[in-house]
Amino acid sequence: MHFCTDPEAASRNTDDTWDAVFADAFDSGRPLADLVVITGDIADNGTEAEYEKIGEKLGRLPVPAIVCPGNHDRQAPFDAILPRPGISNGRTMRVGSWLFLFADSNADGRDRRPDGSQVDRDDRTHAHGRFGDAEVAWIAETIGRSDADHAFVWTHHPPGAFGFFSKPDHDAEFARLVEMAPKIAGVGAGHTHTNTTHECGGRPIHQCPSLSTNIDYGNFTTLAPGYRTYEFADDGSITSEAHLVGEDRWPSSLLSEISRRMLRGEISYEEMKAQLAAEQA
Ligand SMILES: [Fe+2]
Repeated sequence: MHFCTDPEAASRNTDDTWDAVFADAFDSGRPLADLVVITGDIADNGTEAEYEKIGEKLGRLPVPAIVCPGNHDRQAPFDAILPRPGISNGRTMRVGSWLFLFADSNADGRDRRPDGSQVDRDDRTHAHGRFGDAEVAWIAETIGRSDADHAFVWTHHPPGAFGFFSKPDHDAEFARLVEMAPKIAGVGAGHTHTNTTHECGGRPIHQCPSLSTNIDYGNFTTLAPGYRTYEFADDGSITSEAHLVGEDRWPSSLLSEISRRMLRGEISYEEMKAQLAAEQA
């Protein structure tokens, strides 16, 4: 979502896009969802003021919400400020024949203290996505203890992601996880700011559009803000659709060559920044 306290300074005003997405999802006559899942990067900078603002925004939702942390979130204010009536940072939910797991893919953004607690690294925002061994074990053991027929993993970083977002160790641990817990029927993820579904470990990985700038990685053009809907059937099938909102107000444009090179994974984010700074010097 990338909510911030100064939305005018952001690449896209997420107060405005929230209003547009909210209206499309809840005020346009669509069937009311049972649950909203927010797959991370809820805040842009992870400040306490951002989470206070987000809590008020999410208070408008007509249905319960569950939140997963992303790399732009900061764990202490995320856990301390965000949960309130109707907004949960819960880890599991049983819905009919389904078990939902809300998994944390920020293992590389934190350090473990001697007492076992975890603390964000300063570079959490730019850390790679990965569950880590403890989260992989928790997911597999939780599914193993449940009599649910099907499991679905909600998390921030999608396994099998494209280019700049590709993290082979995350992909490999997900493939291992599916072997440990074959009831996993798919993943719903954020992070990549796009609207497509790909496959990893033989499972569909649904990427959710953000409220901020989204990207078509086939054409390297920007996309309007959006969200994704899901339907989970008792037989284990999943129907999911991405919705982009306000394409007149937020029209598509071609990304710069240097952004395209970074997103294709040809140069790092730091190299892109250095080249842009050199061009402006
Ligand atoms: Fe992210």
